[in-house]
Amino acid sequence: MKSIVILISGRGSNMQALLDAKLPCSIAAVICNRPDATGLEIAKSRGIATMVVNHRDFADRESFDTTLAQAINALQPDFVILAGFMRILTEGFVRHFHGKLVNIHPSLLPAYGGLNTHARALHDGVKIHGCTVHFVSADLDHGPIIIQAAVPVLPEDSEQALAQRVLREEHRIYPQAIRWLCTGQVKLDEENKVVFLRRKQVGFTLFSPGLE
Ligand code: GRF
Repeated sequence: MKSIVILISGRGSNMQALLDAKLPCSIAAVICNRPDATGLEIAKSRGIATMVVNHRDFADRESFDTTLAQAINALQPDFVILAGFMRILTEGFVRHFHGKLVNIHPSLLPAYGGLNTHARALHDGVKIHGCTVHFVSADLDHGPIIIQAAVPVLPEDSEQALAQRVLREEHRIYPQAIRWLCTGQVKLDEENKVVFLRRKQVGFTLFSPGLE
């Protein structure tokens, strides 16, 4: 059975969705860069091993990433899952875990990389927004995409309402993506392309607003 390490920084709702999904893999540990993160308590209450590597204890990004990589290496996971892990990782770290490092981002990448994705989508008046699971590359929020979910942006949406609609889909696509990875149904090939063994396509168009 494959094994994964989950990295978090805060609330941990995506981590919780992964734990709830009863994935066909073992969870070697949840590692967090903030000692006070609520996600840590959730993991502990589920009997998952937790570890804190506090970024404040390190003088720079390189030394933090080196210690984090050592902690992960000791567990020898097949995949390292970023679930609301709010640290930018160094190129060396990303290269070291190439093909194993996966992230979820609350936008339809490559649109709206970075922070405040929902506010920016609302500001631009886009009618469709969503979330993306992707392999991590050195280029922030630009790695090869595994799965995306799209949601409509409604005229009356607040940032919170839109965030909630997107988060619901994050909790669906992240477990799905990790299940595919752990069962060998998806992988990153030598040309940095996401390859599926088999794939089911349901429906072909999402309209927002809907067509009459
Ligand atoms: C999620 O929206 C995720 O896409 C982003 O940060 C948020 C983390 O939420 N990277 P949670 O900690 O998983 O609840």
